[in-house]
Amino acid sequence: NWTMSTFIDKEIARIREMVGPRDRVLGAISGGVDSSVAAKLMHAAIGERFHAVMVDNGVLRAGEAKQVDEMLNKHLGVNVTIVDASELFLSRLEGVEDPEKKRKIIGNTFINVFEEEAAKLEAAAEEEEAKAKAEGKEQEAKGKYEFLLQGTLYPDVIESISFKGPSATIKTHHNVGGLLENMKMKLIEPLRELFKDEVRELGKLLGIPAHLVGRHPFPGPGLAIRILGPVTRGQVAILQAADAIYIEEIRRAGHYDKISQAFAVLLPVRAVGVQGDKRTYDQVIALRAAQTTDFMTATWYDFPHQFLSHVSNRITNEVAGINRVVLDISSKPPATIEWL
Ligand code: XMP
Repeated sequence: NWTMSTFIDKEIARIREMVGPRDRVLGAISGGVDSSVAAKLMHAAIGERFHAVMVDNGVLRAGEAKQVDEMLNKHLGVNVTIVDASELFLSRLEGVEDPEKKRKIIGNTFINVFEEEAAKLEAAAEEEEAKAKAEGKEQEAKGKYEFLLQGTLYPDVIESISFKGPSATIKTHHNVGGLLENMKMKLIEPLRELFKDEVRELGKLLGIPAHLVGRHPFPGPGLAIRILGPVTRGQVAILQAADAIYIEEIRRAGHYDKISQAFAVLLPVRAVGVQGDKRTYDQVIALRAAQTTDFMTATWYDFPHQFLSHVSNRITNEVAGINRVVLDISSKPPATIEWL
């Protein structure tokens, strides 16, 4: 595609100019399409001066950190450090139910973790330089991590701006500049003028495998905004298990590429059930599958009944703590795609 290859050349030139010949860039990687494409583009522009960091915030999907590690190292050839900060995130999220508070806590904790990681990488580089110097080797000093890469898209930008209007703050997308005001690193957002379909096209041009480019979006605050009550390790584990079953079945039945975004939601209510001859009082999982082109409006995906019944059986049989599965049949508007 002509427009997208022009975009690549122009953006690479712009990045090189902005970053300069020595500075380095830290990349916030979520495992989603956007941050992977942004990472690949940054790698093409400045090579080894780009370093990706994937933060395990304790609210990722099952197996996600490992998958991302593999994807970036193996498929994309980008250096990535996985930082397990789950304890820090979950302790700060303790007892918090308000969705905006969850977003702010996660956004701010991300910044803390990134800055700490940048400092660590810089210290390691300085040590290396000192060692080289002591051994009498010539080595050019490495630049600082002056920049943070984010895969912000155009819709994130508009939604955040409109959400900040005087009428109502609906949601703040933590990956948009506004929340990052007190960060020392400067933001680079190469995708901020693109829509999702353009980012996918860009990803293909950059050689990212189709199954990665086709991944559904996953929000920065992760499962924290899909657990409607307080976020605990136990609640995360329940949702991870249910979501993994749902997505596995969606892929197996060939629905994945026809849906824009599918995920399970853990409701904070308990309902009565019966298992064997025992009465249970357990939680409820809601299944969401949205179809949309721009994520501003959406309809729900019409699964075959057989499929739904199979997923429901699997979840209630395999996930301890769940005795009921419901289907979300709401459009956007009036509902949003996420429940929080
Ligand atoms: P809503 O729920 O607003 O979602 O209809 C539209 C799209 O945005 C994603 N989303 C987020 N992404 N941080 C993100 O990075 C957030 O806080 C956030 N909230 C919603 C959502 O998954 C959907 O793709």
